[in-house]
Amino acid sequence: MAAPTAATSPDLDESTTFARTLRESTREVHDRAHHSAYMDALLEGRLSLHGYAQLAAQYYFIYQALEQASDAMADDPVGAPFVIDELRRMPALRADLEFLLGPDWEARLHPVEATKTYVRRMHAVAFDWPGGYVAHHYTRYLGDLAGGQVVRSLLRKTYGVEGAGALFYDFSTLGSPSAFRGRYRELLNTAGWDAAERERIIAETLTAFELNIDVLTELAEAVVPATSR
Ligand code: HEM
Repeated sequence: MAAPTAATSPDLDESTTFARTLRESTREVHDRAHHSAYMDALLEGRLSLHGYAQLAAQYYFIYQALEQASDAMADDPVGAPFVIDELRRMPALRADLEFLLGPDWEARLHPVEATKTYVRRMHAVAFDWPGGYVAHHYTRYLGDLAGGQVVRSLLRKTYGVEGAGALFYDFSTLGSPSAFRGRYRELLNTAGWDAAERERIIAETLTAFELNIDVLTELAEAVVPATSR
């Protein structure tokens, strides 16, 4: 296929570069999230399966709020294209938590302080501001589709967990992850936000990453063995 010319290349058209700007603006905070003490310990196999279950438990509260925000955005002209039912993680999380924590899993769930703060933030910005919704949506779901797949293979290799326990990372109903990421970037690029709104969305996305780092930091203190922190 011929290389696109400057006139047709989407990346050279100012109106289509938001996905790239968002990715570049969050590169540094992404690296900090990726290399947080909790994620490093998980990826290096230093956590027990119980230690991983504590993260899945926090996801329960985080995705409950995020997916309630999706319900609130279902009729919003800007937010609605991002309400994609195949992304919803709550059914998978319920099955995973039952596997990981046992039949009384619901009684065993407790949000850590950082999770409560994160959930409060989503309630403040993601239920009636589509840009805020997208900031939180992008941070979680695109992360699950990319880095989450590394965690998925780790669960299989380190703990022998696949199927129940790891369903959270199964996006097979979405089709090809890379094709989906392309469609998602297109949604970001064509949402019609002006420069000021794009700045606000980038700022909220950075906040969303920091809130994730805070959850991971609080969890690390509880579950990463002190000798390996
Ligand atoms: C286990 C630790 C992690 C690993 C191994 C990881 C790895 C990756 C990789 C390989 C990509 C794809 C980059 C590309 O397309 O070139 C990615 C993208 C992404 N990750 Fe992570 N990540 C991790 C943690 C996180 C965390 C904790 C978050 C936020 C909660 C996050 C959010 C994202 C987002 C939003 C993207 C999409 C960037 C874009 O294409 O616009 N990641 N990650």
